[in-house]
Amino acid sequence: MRDPDAAPVRLADYRPPAWTVEAVDLVFELDREESEVEAVLALRCDVPGAPLRLDGEALALRWLELDGRRLAADEFHLTPEGLEVFPAQGLARCRLRSRVGLRPAANTRLEGLYASGRLLLTQCEAEGFRRISFFIDRPDVLARWRTTLRAERARYPVLLAGGNRISERVLEDGRHEAVWENPHPTPCYLFALAAGPMARVSKRLTGADGREIELNVWVEGEDPEPCRYALGAVERALRWDEQRFGRCYDLGVFNVVAAQDFTMGAMENKGLNIFNARYILADERSATDADFLAIESVVGHEYFHNWSGNRVTLRDWFQLSLKEGLTVFRDQEFTADLHSRDLKRIEDVRLLRGRQFAEDAGALAHPVRPAEYREINNFYTLTVYEKGAEIIRMLHTRLGEAAFRAGMDRYFSEHDGRAATLEDFYAAHSAASGVDCRDMLAWYAQAGTPVLAVERHFDADNGRFELRIEQRPPANVPGAGPLPIPLRFALLDAFGDELPPPAVHDAEAMPGGGLLLRHARHVLRWEGLAAEPLPVLNLGFSAPVRLELAYTALERGRLVREARDGFARWDALQALALEVLLDQAGAKPSPESKAAEAALSDALGALLGDTAAHPAFVAECFVLPDIDTLADAVPVADPLALVAAREALLARLAETHAEALSARFAALEAAAGGGLADAAMAARRLRHALLPLITRRDGGAAARALFAGARGMDERFAALRALLHAGVEGAEAARARFAAEFADDPLVTDKWIGLVATRPQPEALEAVQGLMASPFWRPANPNRVRALLGGFARSNPAAFHRGDGAGYRLVAEQVAVLDAINPQVAARLLGAFEGLPRWAPAFAGRARAALAPLRQGERSRDVAELLARLPA
Ligand code: PHE
Ligand code: ZN
Repeated sequence: MRDPDAAPVRLADYRPPAWTVEAVDLVFELDREESEVEAVLALRCDVPGAPLRLDGEALALRWLELDGRRLAADEFHLTPEGLEVFPAQGLARCRLRSRVGLRPAANTRLEGLYASGRLLLTQCEAEGFRRISFFIDRPDVLARWRTTLRAERARYPVLLAGGNRISERVLEDGRHEAVWENPHPTPCYLFALAAGPMARVSKRLTGADGREIELNVWVEGEDPEPCRYALGAVERALRWDEQRFGRCYDLGVFNVVAAQDFTMGAMENKGLNIFNARYILADERSATDADFLAIESVVGHEYFHNWSGNRVTLRDWFQLSLKEGLTVFRDQEFTADLHSRDLKRIEDVRLLRGRQFAEDAGALAHPVRPAEYREINNFYTLTVYEKGAEIIRMLHTRLGEAAFRAGMDRYFSEHDGRAATLEDFYAAHSAASGVDCRDMLAWYAQAGTPVLAVERHFDADNGRFELRIEQRPPANVPGAGPLPIPLRFALLDAFGDELPPPAVHDAEAMPGGGLLLRHARHVLRWEGLAAEPLPVLNLGFSAPVRLELAYTALERGRLVREARDGFARWDALQALALEVLLDQAGAKPSPESKAAEAALSDALGALLGDTAAHPAFVAECFVLPDIDTLADAVPVADPLALVAAREALLARLAETHAEALSARFAALEAAAGGGLADAAMAARRLRHALLPLITRRDGGAAARALFAGARGMDERFAALRALLHAGVEGAEAARARFAAEFADDPLVTDKWIGLVATRPQPEALEAVQGLMASPFWRPANPNRVRALLGGFARSNPAAFHRGDGAGYRLVAEQVAVLDAINPQVAARLLGAFEGLPRWAPAFAGRARAALAPLRQGERSRDVAELLARLPA
């Protein structure tokens, strides 16, 4: 293992590779206990005389051959991090052949070649290929790949690798072989193989460019039917990228494999995507609506990487958001185009404000393009993904769809088959649009969320209205300069009609409406107004900023009713709830709190009775801001006071609207039975948002009835959640029945375990400990760890922040245990402490004490780097 104290990697130190790999020929002798890999690398030297260094970790080197000659021990130098070979001075090209041994079954890191069930799989991003073979493991080394897989036929009947399959044959001794070739220049982080007993669903189609393509989705075992929905999603993604971005698929086959053991969500390996099974396997009996939507979105995300990431890849890992932010933007647009744009925006902003803003204001805050890192795996964050996507969205807002598309076309064609930087991306967009948008790069360099503080001034005598806008640096990045902010806004007159744009301003108009603010201060002025208008700012969340603009409760109520887009209406409702909750928790007193609660309650009551409103939208309105969002709105927070305030408000709303809640719940029953159609999903979404409120008053009657008569997992799971979280009669019986029925389905088991872990009670901690002492605890399975400990630490503030500090201790202790199994999983769990600097002193003190023992002893680079950033 590399030294955790070694110097960090710095963006400023980037140098092009001295040696590059032009072509790779790999031969695998696969076996779960002991695999062997032979690699022939065709190497080219671009810096005469430069040493030839290869990365390699945890590899058992059998032998090494240079240009056909076996090397003696003194002709190379082997370290824990790799290999240095000494070819003749001035050699421009050479062939290096190596053979190494691997132990997949012992690989619990799930990086490199590992075993999952009866399958053998690989995971290489970011730096896992060096655990498979000696290589120049960096994304700007692009090679052509040929992969030969050999294995026992009975145990590994299916042999998949990246690219197209070019041959297959039976070998002696019950073995067989498949050869795969990927003709596109590809870095090693996109290498993949999968072998074992798998079944598939399959579809052939013709791409928009005439190419014949076979789509396959594979899963371990004999029954491929749970892959059917994912297969449909692949096809929708392929068609959408053809239409919206003009991008075609570029191989004869696209394989997707579901893995029960997988650290992340999914991986876009060239021609062979490997997915966490939770983002593939689904049928109505075992998957919720949210699961189906997540599958479609992740399938789209990985598919879209084929262009944004694979055909055009990254120069270095600092550019990570160049593929991830861009691809999240693309998957967000895919979902918005296929379903509801307003709803998708609401969901994305909820995640951004709840989690990304908190990350960006906490101990682990970092710029979207950090200047340095010790462990790149620690930078697959909401900031790189979600804030990165927001920056691309701002560019899109600024340029408009047509110019943005032209810029994308130019970026893809200029850099196809190469490794690019964020500078390349913004240069392509600037050249294609004629708008110099390279100033957007400043967004990547600075951590924290900027603040837009807005004051309104109305002069009734001359009908002059002004918005005075000041951009302030993020609280945690005091000296930061102003960033370019595309601001969309509207002014409503007394009748709720929109007024024309301001007559006077010092900002740049954007083609689709709105202004680009570039300075610390801007004044927008309207003239000749008959009455004071009501402004709505940051429409559609056009920029990821904190908006400070004082409204009265009455005005917010008007916005809920009168704003044009769903997002603005939802946002006004959230703001009302936020004001009430922060006041009640003593976090931020507001003289308007009573009025705000009345406005909130009235608005929710009106929405309940509004059968014309989209039920899914109404559902989102009933989901109050979560604890992360609340905590993020104040400099220092007492998490337990926030939990109590939120519970109390929910109880009052449940009381006030008791009849209307039950009536709407009942009225939607028939519509909710309509399978996977959008309208049925929307009906269920609303029913299931209302159910916890109803359960507070009816002792669980409605939830028990729903559980008993459930028409699919979405209903079953919503009922079970309502019962378990309220702790009402029948809860434990329902859990036991559910657990028994799905005992052999690990993904559904994760679901009920997640509910136990997130029950909003301090005693959830003992329940979690109970499960950890049971056969359900599988610490080497990332999904199980995430369901139990991730759910507890990230989504159960009532128990995690328990006053005796036991929640913090449990998580810190398990970070140490898990670090020895899978460092990435351990590091992610440790991230639950990122908010520590902003927890009230008593909480922060207990958390620091819980972390202290972790600081003693050997830790992985992943955990060590995060620990160093958390306050001691
Ligand atoms: N590149 C993957 C994605 O976003 C995420 C991932 C990173 C998966 C690292 C595995 C390892 O689509
Ligand atoms: Zn991605």
